[in-house]
Amino acid sequence: MKIAVAGTGYVGLSVALLLAQHHEVHALDIVPEKVEMLNAGTSPIVDKEITAFLEANTPGGRPLDFHATLDARQAYTGADYAVIATPTNYDEQRNYFDTSSVEAAIAAVRQYSPNAWIVIKSTIPVGYTKQLRETLHDGRILFSPEFLREGHALYDNLHPSRIVVGAPQDDSEAVGAARAFVRLLAEGAAQGEASRHNPDGTVGIPELVVGTTEAEAIKLFSNTYLALRVAYFNELDTYAELRNLDTRAIIDGVCLDPRIGPGYNNPSFGYGGYCLPKDTKQLLANYAAVPQNLIEAIVEANRTRKDFVADEILERVRGAEKPVVGIYRLTMKSGSDNFRQSAIQDVMKRLLAEGATLLVYEPTLDAADFNGNEVTRDLAAFKQRADVIVANRWNDELADVAGKVFTRDLFKRD
Ligand SMILES: NC(=O)c1ccc[n+]([C@@H]2O[C@H](COP(=O)([O-])OP(=O)(O)OC[C@H]3O[C@@H](n4cnc5c(N)ncnc54)[C@H](O)[C@@H]3O)[C@@H](O)[C@H]2O)c1
Repeated sequence: MKIAVAGTGYVGLSVALLLAQHHEVHALDIVPEKVEMLNAGTSPIVDKEITAFLEANTPGGRPLDFHATLDARQAYTGADYAVIATPTNYDEQRNYFDTSSVEAAIAAVRQYSPNAWIVIKSTIPVGYTKQLRETLHDGRILFSPEFLREGHALYDNLHPSRIVVGAPQDDSEAVGAARAFVRLLAEGAAQGEASRHNPDGTVGIPELVVGTTEAEAIKLFSNTYLALRVAYFNELDTYAELRNLDTRAIIDGVCLDPRIGPGYNNPSFGYGGYCLPKDTKQLLANYAAVPQNLIEAIVEANRTRKDFVADEILERVRGAEKPVVGIYRLTMKSGSDNFRQSAIQDVMKRLLAEGATLLVYEPTLDAADFNGNEVTRDLAAFKQRADVIVANRWNDELADVAGKVFTRDLFKRD
């Protein structure tokens, strides 16, 4: 089978490599450097499994049938499926996702492949696929939410929590194409996943074929729940800090209830990264004319948390003459090279508004400044010059200056 993938970011690349184990996959991007790197067997993103797949080229002993290209004709002509994994940034002016790259990719697919089943993997507003199918008079468009974590993109596709594909439930051809796509994703999963035991007693990868609008809602409600959980433990931490209580002891005690459970409870400067901030805002926009309190509060809670974190940092340098606030990493997670929408950047804006001088340590950034702030890659000089060191995530290389470090990473994990 020939499968085309539009976009070779976290989502597109991991899905393309997963499917290339058993099928001919052509991954299209508009950035020549990415395509060159991929065809040379190098990953443009930090991801253990993606790197290993590209380097070995024969995971599980089978050669990958993977081709990166800038050529839409080559990618789309004769494709059975075209997976769309292009960006959907949040447009702050329109208060909605900017879906223009998805529409551009769909137009390009249709130019060369009138009959391919198009599967949108980008995160889109609730109701988008139905509307698109109607306005384009195109019944061969499906939606499949992607649940991967950055840094574990291919791992999460090899070991999926669930596979969900949306198709209009009254269209048997579309439902059949959706089921076939579920099987393609399941076929690429790691050995043993088909017989794994899930916590709810079921065996194998949970598979769902639902309506396109339900599938879109599954994605946005999942991410908004994750944002809620981060915001909840962050707000617990704000309370404990201001009341001089031991946050860690409280979280440990709270999470022993199996209904609450451990994990995903480590305080931070706020939820961030590419997806949670934009997906919560998009869900809130989808709630227009629907009563709600919670969704809005989840968006607001993140702002309040960053205000609190900035105030705490400023408190530590109050009274010092021309204090330097050291920003240890711009990234959201440890082991990452990606700082799209990281919470620290919003904290930095608040610190700058209060007149603070910032010094950034970010070894993956090859630039002398970041948004007008000095950047250094010299860790020793950074430690020496900073009066306080702000770290969303702890790293043992800060151990010798632990007294200067401000972090809320209490469990030393993401
Ligand atoms: N990153 C995540 O953790 C994650 C998880 C689930 C869902 N998503 C969603 O998936 C989508 C993609 O996210 P990502 O993180 O992979 O993005 P990304 O920015 O890492 O990659 C997108 C790629 O698409 C390319 N592109 C843009 N327009 C194109 C076009 N017309 N044709 C071909 N390629 C094009 C870009 O050059 C880029 O390489 C977004 O909607 C995002 O919300 C992301």
